[in-house]
Amino acid sequence: MGTYDLILKGGTCVNQDGVHQADVGVNDGKIAFIGSLNGASADKIVDVAGLHVLPGVIDSQVHMREPGLEAKEDLETGSRAAVLGGVTAVFEMPNTKPTTTTSEALADKVSRATDRMFCDFAFYVGATVENAEEIPTIERQIGCCGLKVFMGSSTGTLLVADDGGVKRVLSHGRRRVAIHSEDEFRLRERRELAVLGDVSTHPVWRDVEAAVLCTKRLLRLARETGRRIHVLHISTADEIPILAQNKDICTVEVTPQHLTLAAPECYDELGTFAQMNPPIRSAEHRAGLWEAVAQGVVDVIGSDHAPHLKEEKEQPYPKSPAGMPGVQTLLPLMLDHVNAGRLTIERLVDLVCHGPQRLFGISGKGRLAVGYDADITVVDMKKKTVISNDWIASKCGWTPFAGKEVTGWPKGTIIRGRTVMWEDEILGQAGGRPVRFQETMDQHA
Ligand code: DOR
Repeated sequence: MGTYDLILKGGTCVNQDGVHQADVGVNDGKIAFIGSLNGASADKIVDVAGLHVLPGVIDSQVHMREPGLEAKEDLETGSRAAVLGGVTAVFEMPNTKPTTTTSEALADKVSRATDRMFCDFAFYVGATVENAEEIPTIERQIGCCGLKVFMGSSTGTLLVADDGGVKRVLSHGRRRVAIHSEDEFRLRERRELAVLGDVSTHPVWRDVEAAVLCTKRLLRLARETGRRIHVLHISTADEIPILAQNKDICTVEVTPQHLTLAAPECYDELGTFAQMNPPIRSAEHRAGLWEAVAQGVVDVIGSDHAPHLKEEKEQPYPKSPAGMPGVQTLLPLMLDHVNAGRLTIERLVDLVCHGPQRLFGISGKGRLAVGYDADITVVDMKKKTVISNDWIASKCGWTPFAGKEVTGWPKGTIIRGRTVMWEDEILGQAGGRPVRFQETMDQHA
């Protein structure tokens, strides 16, 4: 039967084999066996009967604000939030100060994150007209998950608005390009529709057409250049059939907040704390996003964790910055949606584990399978919890979901065999490492 470093005993595993009872044996930080381990010995045996054992949850869109904006968040605090929320790895965005647009800036982030983040990590490189020539080199560096383009301006200075610029970027390099798709020209034209002090005008200014126009342009440019793209945080039902016609070239992300909140209630209840880009829209759009989840048009769920301080958010709209924290609440919210029957637990694993693995070409993570890293998220599907600001580990100290009761809660976060979180407590030292990617494994040789 053998001996293991760790055995998770009697849990309900959710993986490529469906939902089934199995023990999981871990050795040297990797999954060594899935099945019955009756009689096997281990340094540590954890009884997980009654709990679900998932592949480690990967949040492929977070903003951790370091360097330069550490008052809002830093790599360490953001990673505490991640592991408390059952997240084992995060992919972080380049709109920091300085922006992650050079080889040096990327290497600096990797060095800051290593052994200081509690979860594993990778970083997007911001693609611009200026650094396009260097992209083929930078995108191959250790710790790079892909490229990011803002086609509409949001927090920070990164922007590639016009077709020529986007085409230039898409023609350089090979890794997946994640895009913020809102048409900058339409946003500029409509800027005065954002009424001072009235956040409910946010989706009027940044309207459905701004998203649809941009996504159509983007798909045309992706096809012209033959580049695979990943369209982030889709917010409109109208974009879904367009994306569905282009699945050979694009992948699609939605966020838990676009699946959970709806206008106008969210603006009545949360004010500027519900302000994000692209905006939260009506219940009809939310229903369209759920339909896209059901139809398989959506590939991943990412949180777009975008912390801002309370006092920043309390400024009158539109001075208030767009974005809300989310890395810690992604899994609890989605487990609650599973319990409510809106998606299956298998589909959730597809969206937050298998999906990121497949589309970013992650090496050795994202699957609960022998030989893969022992990144495991243990969840209690029955536990009822009221989300509170006290639980939030982000520096911002708030969540738009405070006061919401959810059913389903992360019980433990295991990363490369090390238990990093158990029962809402962070354990041990930070040991974060860069996620590896199949296309750049030669960098790790
Ligand atoms: O609402 C948002 N906030 N959307 C983005 O695209 C950026 C993010 C941020 O960095 O604050």
